[in-house]
Amino acid sequence: MNVSERELRVKPINNGTVIDHIESGQALNVLKILGIGNHTKTVVSVLMNVPSGAMGAKDVVKVEGRELEPGEVDTIALIAPRSTINIIRDYEVVEKFRVAMPKVVAGIIKCGNPNCISNSDEPVNSKFYVESAAPVLLRCSYCEFVLDKNIADHML
Ligand code: CTP
Ligand code: ZN
Repeated sequence: MNVSERELRVKPINNGTVIDHIESGQALNVLKILGIGNHTKTVVSVLMNVPSGAMGAKDVVKVEGRELEPGEVDTIALIAPRSTINIIRDYEVVEKFRVAMPKVVAGIIKCGNPNCISNSDEPVNSKFYVESAAPVLLRCSYCEFVLDKNIADHML
């Protein structure tokens, strides 16, 4: 650890995953993508608007006892493309990787077209193709609706 005692906001964790460099304001959406809600039993720490040299301010999410794998939560890249995932074992960072933009996003984002079959009573989950990563541009696989701004506001 390279932080002094007085700089610590939240304790280092023993085992689990730290999602760091989340664009500030997106921590709660990251929890949603991780499937962490009111009923979770996992120990989770959420930091918001932590001062960060490179980013000005960032959010951080620490999930104890759970190791995320590359690809598992790449949808985080849609809302916070600079996020890094750190795997912690016995207090040490044993792996660090950046989220990568997925090619397909299924069941996370709501199509903006009210007439889309994914918004109907049919049991059809939303599915988008990622047509461009920066800026993010998603195209609905059913109705061709294009989503290119406020992606976070369309999270299911
Ligand atoms: N961390 C933690 N518990 C540990 C080890 C690390 O919560 N036992 C957290 C740190 O607080 C940091 C992140 O995991 O938010 C990554 O740790 P580390 O790689 O040590 O920090 P940096 O070198 O600052 O990371 P980067 O180079 O990615 O900015
Ligand atoms: Zn659609």
